[in-house]
Amino acid sequence: MRRSMRSVLTLAIAAAVATLPACSEGANTSGGGGGGQGENKVEVFSWWTGPGEEDGLNALIADFRQKNSDIEFINAAVSGGAGTNAKAILANRLQSNDPPDSYQRHAGLELQDDIKAGKVEDVTYLYDQEGWKDVFPEGLIEYLTIDGKIYAVPVNIHRSNLLYANPKVLQEAGISAPPKTWSEFLTQAETLKGKGKTAISIGPTWTQKHLLENVLLGELGADAYEGLWNGKTDWSSAEVTAALQTFSKVLSYSDIASASADWQPALDKLIEGTAAYNVMGDWADSYLSITKKLAYETDYLAVASPGTDGVYNFLSDTFTLPVGAKNRGAAEKWLIEAGSKSGQDAFNPKKGSVPARTDTDKSLYKGYLEKALAEWQDDSTRIVGSLAHGVVANNAWNAEIDTALALFVKDGDVGKFAQAVKQSYEATKG
Ligand code: GAL
Repeated sequence: MRRSMRSVLTLAIAAAVATLPACSEGANTSGGGGGGQGENKVEVFSWWTGPGEEDGLNALIADFRQKNSDIEFINAAVSGGAGTNAKAILANRLQSNDPPDSYQRHAGLELQDDIKAGKVEDVTYLYDQEGWKDVFPEGLIEYLTIDGKIYAVPVNIHRSNLLYANPKVLQEAGISAPPKTWSEFLTQAETLKGKGKTAISIGPTWTQKHLLENVLLGELGADAYEGLWNGKTDWSSAEVTAALQTFSKVLSYSDIASASADWQPALDKLIEGTAAYNVMGDWADSYLSITKKLAYETDYLAVASPGTDGVYNFLSDTFTLPVGAKNRGAAEKWLIEAGSKSGQDAFNPKKGSVPARTDTDKSLYKGYLEKALAEWQDDSTRIVGSLAHGVVANNAWNAEIDTALALFVKDGDVGKFAQAVKQSYEATKG
């Protein structure tokens, strides 16, 4: 796994990192940042409020409280899947130098933007103090590092490329198994349509981008998928054009005209049996198995999205130490919690993710998560990074892709979309 993670880094973000400044402005490398030294409260910012999300956060908070009964925990979570609302509010707070004491960021180029802007402190000293360099995969740490300095603490690993299915709906339509390719999906989708079912449910724009990345991955394969994010794969090539056409066809079998407000209601359609499939990250497993109390492999299926067997399209949630945190001492304790074995083992089984640490208690990961952990830790698994969740594209490019995608799903103009994405890559690569 370490080797695979490193190769992802080399392909996807090495070029971007190489252009970054040697040290972020205002960041303190010795652990004595510019914020307050408050010890008795900590404000933690995330977007884990909804069902299937807050269970994990609450478990982590409970473990934190047990170890730090003298610290008041202020939960500043803002609702909205994938941080749609939280990220905008956070941007304003960072802009006005009013950071929370710690905030959620994705490993990869999303975090690298904050490092470049001098918004987060170097926390390498915590890695040394807590022995984290030995327990987090080296390749993962590299996503958090610039010039040998580490800027965040990863709490988990999520998988983006999962296809969820309602087995009863499949059975009633005479479909024996989820599709292995998107072309097979389209054949099944026609059958499902004939039975009055939505083949694939969908939610807001970020879920459409989530689906897009996984259609591209399944259609192009891991190498060409990685090339999309580092300029090596031409967005206007015949292969990418065909993959984008496939995405449009997949959407035509979705309920995009009445798209759900977020990822949970999109999955509700599958649970109710009006839709057969949904593509979502493995936080959905927590929603289905814990919130909805459904049985994995009986009530619902979760398999690699079409064309991605053996590939782990990863993302990682991390916590940071913002420059100017008012309660810096307490924030350090929160980061120590997020990186701890007990914290990760409290959080991840509830969150639907596998631990970022390699030394946690495997027996706690059951059902889907048992398989996920085995696959994540298997050296032959190919690891690539998620677009929709901050790994492979910086925030400026991601925002341009959002704008272009909102048009694309309406007009279906593949050439225009590819051109817009290609041009904005050049304009935002820094
Ligand atoms: C991702 C995040 C996950 C989960 C998901 C849905 O961006 O990394 O932890 O919260 O959004 O909200």
